[in-house]
Amino acid sequence: MDATRREALASLAGMSGVAAFSFGAYCQTADPTTPITTVKPAAAPVASLAAFDATKGEYVLPPLPYKSDELEPVIDKATMELHHGKHHAAYVAGANRALKELAGIRDGGDAGLVRHWARELSFHLGGHVNHTLFWNMMAPAGKGGGGEPTGALIAAIRRDFGSFDKFVAHFKANALQVEGGGWGWLVLDTLSKRLVLIQMESQQDRFIAGAVPILGVDVWEHAYYLKYQNKRSEYVDAFMKVVNWRFCEQLFDAAVA
Ligand SMILES: [Fe+2]
Repeated sequence: MDATRREALASLAGMSGVAAFSFGAYCQTADPTTPITTVKPAAAPVASLAAFDATKGEYVLPPLPYKSDELEPVIDKATMELHHGKHHAAYVAGANRALKELAGIRDGGDAGLVRHWARELSFHLGGHVNHTLFWNMMAPAGKGGGGEPTGALIAAIRRDFGSFDKFVAHFKANALQVEGGGWGWLVLDTLSKRLVLIQMESQQDRFIAGAVPILGVDVWEHAYYLKYQNKRSEYVDAFMKVVNWRFCEQLFDAAVA
């Protein structure tokens, strides 16, 4: 792993509140006695993970790793521009605001407001992390989007879900059944070092501490309503055509390295 990629993924792990490099050296295949061989990861658009300006000490909106119309027809240009330029930008602003307010409390402000601003920070920083990951977990069809995972990730998916098809069916059902706005996530659980599918309500609720995100789908209505209206299932079906598995493989490889 080159230094740039390691730095970017380490930064991402820190952003997510997880320690992507703290896991064991390997995870296991369907035969629990046989370690998965970590494959050499493919290049990923890690430059677009620039979501924090260390000089200013502020979160920033990272650019999309593709043009806003490049995910069409799966995700339309108008949705991408609103989602990234308005919704994601609002999470960035909200996270920075919450941090400032909490700093103000430490400098003598009303300590009774800690709970409020802690909740605001969790929601907005959660939204910033989720969306930063989400943009990179997609790629235009034919330019890295779609298909199936390879290497250690597909081995782990087969071990933990039985087959790729069973995983996809479970992933879709999981996303469809998120109540209200939220996310469907494939994550690596740090205790078992196994993949599990979990739901997230809002931008942070129901997530598991330490879980490493591998693939997530945004099922807030703002992610799909312009094109799909109430047909979340059609959106999730289409989403699978633009999954950037190479990026997901990098997250997984880093988590189990
Ligand atoms: Fe969203």
